[in-house]
This record gives sequence, structure tokens and C-alpha cells, in this order.
Amino acid sequence: MSTELLHKAYSGALFKEEGDDLIALLANHLKTTKEGTPSKVTRWVSPTNEYNFWQEYVKENHSTKEFFTTVLERSIHTHHPKYIGHQIASTVPVAALATLFSAQLNNGMTVYEMGQASTAIEKVVIDMFVHAIGYTEGDGFLTSGGTLANLTAMLAARKAIANDDIWNDGHASKLAIMVSEEAHYCVDRAARIMGLGNDGIIKIPVDDQYAIRTDLLETYYAKAVADGRQVIAIVGSAPSTSTGVYDDLEAVSAFAKAKKIWFHVDGAHGGAAIFSSKYKHLLKGIDQANSVIIDGHKMMGTSSITTAVLFKNKVDSYATFEQKAQYLWDKNDDPEWYNIGKRTFECTKSMMSLRFFAIMNAYGTQFFDDNVTVLYDAGREFATYIKQHPDFELALDPISNIVCFRYIRNLSPDQYEEVNRKIRQELLEDGEFYIVSTLLKGVFYLRTTFMNPFTNKEHMEALLEKIKAIASNIELKKEQINL
Ligand SMILES: Cc1ncc(COP(=O)(O)O)c(C=O)c1O
Repeated sequence: MSTELLHKAYSGALFKEEGDDLIALLANHLKTTKEGTPSKVTRWVSPTNEYNFWQEYVKENHSTKEFFTTVLERSIHTHHPKYIGHQIASTVPVAALATLFSAQLNNGMTVYEMGQASTAIEKVVIDMFVHAIGYTEGDGFLTSGGTLANLTAMLAARKAIANDDIWNDGHASKLAIMVSEEAHYCVDRAARIMGLGNDGIIKIPVDDQYAIRTDLLETYYAKAVADGRQVIAIVGSAPSTSTGVYDDLEAVSAFAKAKKIWFHVDGAHGGAAIFSSKYKHLLKGIDQANSVIIDGHKMMGTSSITTAVLFKNKVDSYATFEQKAQYLWDKNDDPEWYNIGKRTFECTKSMMSLRFFAIMNAYGTQFFDDNVTVLYDAGREFATYIKQHPDFELALDPISNIVCFRYIRNLSPDQYEEVNRKIRQELLEDGEFYIVSTLLKGVFYLRTTFMNPFTNKEHMEALLEKIKAIASNIELKKEQINL
């Protein structure tokens, strides 16, 4: 017997009223942030204070509209042109609508009958990626984020290359994966989850431009073999996270072929450049990869999280997981493209294909080209201003939309780290801009990633001016202490 409360919670009229309020709130937020009107991208509150705030909030009586408004005020604004921080898309509104829509439909996706439209749409989305990469016999699926996608690809590599049947018999031999020392930490994590251990993840040093040193591959491989390890895969970063630099995929591919090992491309961030007529040359050799992953929620404008896992050979896309699940499917050995749960880590999966498809439907793949091209151009533009400015130093010429630099005026090299760390912390607490930091070969740099296609010259120059003002303040405070 249903209750009055349940009737209210499921009321279509209430959904419309609250939904209208929500769309109005977000539409206004989109308009004002796009124009850069709010003075702050983020408001810094300590984790404990923020927790205390919500602990009190839940005890009070607030409408749904007030709740969403308050969350918005207390969240980072990724649509603000002064958001130049971590790699997360300024979601395209149509993709956000697709996410809201699919959240309410909640089709489970594991088997075809639990998501007929979204399953077929997923195949169309995958076809788009396969075609763009240039695979002739490719296939794949969508999964929940780049981290899980890399793990899935590494499991496929193990299945295809390892001498042992690890899925069924467990580990007998020692395996290894080769990857650049600048690769995203999730590749290391995947190797450890797979039981490869510390020595099973072979980190190859990078050159002075932070790309994997392909001249060292042979030496590191030979050492692993001499240590009794079977190397199953090599991962190319496209690009690596800290620097935005692409590994030489052609050279890595040639090495993988020579050794008969799996070649995987982590294109979580910049695999999407395959859609950019101007920048797709950075991915030369990607069509030779056994597997590729590309995040939608980084450079393709979708909400989080949605990642394509793509395979050069269709058969590999079915081989990773062998699982009996009689309540879901009868035929364990039949590929059945439409029963996606046979191939994905997830059982229940969100209808993430709708996010890509809504963009394709509204704007075509040209949207992906425009987005990547504009953002990568922005990275280069920012670098030219830094170069013109003697107070700053670039870590390297950017290849993509990731730019690392530091403030150096009146500083001796031993002060660089301390002052730049303070600059980053003060920027965070001030909230007008959001940028992050990184360590490159142990050296501290400020790190920006241009994720918002509306960040322009004025914002870039204002950021440099802001940093200069913070640095002068730090200098002043220091002088006062020394007086
Ligand atoms: C190169 C690279 N790979 C993988 C990931 C992890 O992706 P996700 O955050 O979708 O799990 C990132 C995230 O920044 C990345 O930059």
C-alpha cells in the first residue's frame, strides 16, 4: 500500500515545478558564468567547516529550490572563464540535459532489454570513435571513467598476451606493463589491482620535453625479461596529465609490434584531438593501438563520467570478462553486442551514450573539433603571453591546453618552490581564479588547463596580473618580517 509521502515524492506536477526552477537556476548560472560576471570561481571553505554547514543544513527545513541554490553557491564553477584548473569539461547544456533525462529514465543497461535505445545509441557512438581513429575492424563500449577504462584495457591486454590463463587459474607467472613515468597514476593503480606489484609497473623516464624516452624501451624491456617477467603491454600517454605532452605513438607502436606485446593509448584527456582537423596529427600512430580510451567528460563536453574503451580488433572487446550470469544471459560464449554487461566492468551502468549522442545530434562531430581546437589554441596563446613576460617562466612549450609555468621575479632558484606554492594557495583561497599545481621531475610549477572555450586573452592577462599582485604581497610581508 503506497503512502502519501511516496505519492508526493513521485508527483509529476512537483517534478515540473522543481524542474522548472532548476533549469531557470542553471540557465542563469550558465549565462552569468559564461560572461564571467560572478567575481569568484570558487569560495574556499575548510573541509570541516563545509561538513559542519551541511550537518546543520540537513536539520533545517529547506525547499528543493533552496537546496540546489545553496549547493551552486558553494560549488566550483567550471563554466566560469577563470576556471583554468583540473581537466573537467565545461559541460555542454545539451549533454547535461541528456544526463538529467537518463537519470530519471534509469535504464540499467546491463542487458539489451534494460536499455534498448541507449544500447543501440552506444553502438552508434562507438562507431563514431572507431571511424575517427581509423580502425577498420574496431569495436568497444562506454564505461565509467578513464581510470576504469584503463584497467579494463589492461585486463584485455592480459587476456590476449599473457601465457597463463589468469582469469581462470590465477597468477602463476610474473607480468609487467611498461609506461612513461609521467603517465596518469591510474595506470599504476590498474597494474597493482591486477596483482602485478611494484616491479610489475615499469616506469620509463621521459625526455626533456616530458615524452616517454623511446630510446630506453629496449633496455627496460630486456631487464624485465632478465628478471623473469613477461611484459604484456606498453602504454602511450596521449597526452600525459601533468604536462599535456603526447608520447611518440608511432615509435611506441613499432616497439610493441616488435615485441609482440599489447599497445594501449591512454587518450583520456587528448584522445579527443582525433576529431580536430588541426591537432589530430598529435595522435599519429593511434590506429595501430590494440586499445584506446577517450574521456567524454574532459575534452568532449559531456558531464561526468563517461569514457569510450576502443579496440582495434573486435574480438578483443569481448574477451576481457568471462562470467556466467544465468539470470542475465543464457549463452556465455555468444558475443551478443547488445548485452553490454558481458563486456563492461559495470553491471548496472548509466545511459552515458545519450550524452555523446545528444551532442552529435545537435551539433554533429564538428562540436568536438571546435572544442578541442579552441582549447588547444588557448594553451598556446597563454604560453605566448607568459613568454613575453619576464616575471614568469614556462616549464615547456605547451602541446595541448595544459600549460605549466612559475613566477620567478626577484627570486633565487631556491625560493621558487616556496613562493609558487604560496601563490597557488592564495589563489585558491581568494577564489577569483582556479588553477592547480604539479611537480615536474621534482620541480614545483603552477599548472593551468584551458577547459572553457570562453576563456580569452583578458582572462589570461588578468591571471598573470593577479599572480604578480599576490607575489608582491608575499614579498612585502617578508620584508616586514625582516625589518
Ligand atoms: C591521462 C589520464 N588518464 C586517466 C585519467 C583518469 O580519468 P578519470 O578521471 O576519468 O578516471 C586522467 C585524469 O585526469 C588522465 O589525465
